[in-house]
Amino acid sequence: MTDNAPTIVSSPKVAAEARRRRTFAVISHPDAGKSTLTEALVLHANAITEAGAVHGKAGRKATVSDWMEMEKARGISITSTAMQFPYSLGDQDCVINLLDTPGHADFSEDTYRVLTAVDCAVMLIDAAKGLEPQTLKLFQVCRHRRIPIITVINKWDRPGRDPLELLDEITERIGLRPTPLTWPVGVAGDFKGVLDRRTGNFIRYTRTAGGATAAPEEHLTPDAAHESAGEDWDRAVEESELLEADGSDYDRDTFLSCETSPLLFTSAILNFGVNQLLDILVQIAPPPHGQLDVEGQQRVLESPFSAFVFKVQAGMDSAHRDRIAYARVCSGTFERGDVLTHAATGKPFVTKYAQSVFGQQRSTLDSAWPGDVIGLANAAALRPGDTLFRDEPVVYPPIPSFSPEYFAVVRGTDPSKHKQFRKGIEQLDQEGVVQVLKSDKRGDQAPVFAAVGPMQFEVAEHRMKAELSAPIALESLPYSVARIVDPEDAEFVNKQPSAEVLIRTDGVMLALFSTKWRLEGFQRDNPTVVLRSLVAAGDN
Ligand code: G4P
Repeated sequence: MTDNAPTIVSSPKVAAEARRRRTFAVISHPDAGKSTLTEALVLHANAITEAGAVHGKAGRKATVSDWMEMEKARGISITSTAMQFPYSLGDQDCVINLLDTPGHADFSEDTYRVLTAVDCAVMLIDAAKGLEPQTLKLFQVCRHRRIPIITVINKWDRPGRDPLELLDEITERIGLRPTPLTWPVGVAGDFKGVLDRRTGNFIRYTRTAGGATAAPEEHLTPDAAHESAGEDWDRAVEESELLEADGSDYDRDTFLSCETSPLLFTSAILNFGVNQLLDILVQIAPPPHGQLDVEGQQRVLESPFSAFVFKVQAGMDSAHRDRIAYARVCSGTFERGDVLTHAATGKPFVTKYAQSVFGQQRSTLDSAWPGDVIGLANAAALRPGDTLFRDEPVVYPPIPSFSPEYFAVVRGTDPSKHKQFRKGIEQLDQEGVVQVLKSDKRGDQAPVFAAVGPMQFEVAEHRMKAELSAPIALESLPYSVARIVDPEDAEFVNKQPSAEVLIRTDGVMLALFSTKWRLEGFQRDNPTVVLRSLVAAGDN
């Protein structure tokens, strides 16, 4: 065998390892309980022994996933982590990859990137609030990317809405038909357990102090359930029969085609229903399948190794200040030390520093399979959307940039930090923290940050100061709409009042307008100038 011979991948092994993987993310509006559910899932999978070790908001215990100071102060999670843990159901030994998504709408671009790397999403809904704006937005992203969704109605231990009414809301507002797998016994606020609609049995939950350990549960037959829960059980049975008559039973094909959504009820804080969610992920969530490349061809799982970068992130570890590119494996096997090819440049990429990340803890990663996430440290050349492959070339589709709606000129406030300023801006740009725009007129000393939400500016400002030692001042610009413009029209657009053309670092020319109204007026008056839309945050 010569050095150039293709890698021999043991196909049955790759297929079997891929089949064991469930790679998913939880999407929700802030406060619906995503961090609590994440902790509970990991707890149930026995990866940690006590709740509180993965996430932590203000006042909560050891925090791992919300590591940036700003996040801690605000109690929001901006940065995304990937977690991997084993979970067994009967004789099925699975590997769960849970990708964390930022909850705040200002970081929807980040969330979008993470959602390119999952095979399934869990849509978490607060029982008292129903569908909230950010849930709706993220749902649209999933629909657009054809990601199957499992719906979880959380906080059933607290007074909330009628379950049938919540189902109607989901059907009516987003056109996704819920197919409950469990049905609550006891109204919201009096959560006794669930009717398992697949077996007809009652799963009775018992509270534990603070929900700190896995909640004990008993499985009772319908007769015993009636004895135990009386009217609450009878009502659950009646409502479940209504659902059956209405055709709201689980159906695999329509779940995978994103027309229906299996649904269950939980109380993440009490650990009720959390293991049912894990079981359901194992039983019905789709495992990795061959990813489509940029030409629409499917890269079969057994092909040589390939992956795409969905996120680049720096500054997670204040002691090291390093930068990690997260790549999702699409085909083949990964072995640490493999020399891959970076599709964008054609250059070799050495993977000596591959890591797996669990919350904030990192460990060396020796091998990975389709569906897994590899953290590649010191990967200066990698950007979100980049493909890495071995032997057989492949390029995965780029991750679209969102249309920015906020713009600000950036200036370094410490003239002696000129070098750090330039380096810092470049780094934030490569990570995709903000988009960076420039023009000859403004010069290199005053680039423009463009963002989907203003909190991205806060992150950029904080990072420039705290981490890159180059404090900056931002001055907002009066633009709110961006369109792609062809170079031949750029000068003409630049002369318009309330408009300006800037060049993004990837070479794309963006025409900025103060308002949608100005843009429409310009288009009416100049129909020959072609202006193209970027992906808008609301309609992905
Ligand atoms: P997020 O990541 O989606 O933003 O939500 P998070 O898990 O932080 O939960 C938001 C609040 O809702 C927290 O309360 C949390 O304890 C509570 N919560 C989560 N799941 C449940 C549940 O199933 N039932 C009930 N009753 N509450 C739940 P907090 O007061 O904001 O914070 P904390 O002091 O409890 O940490």
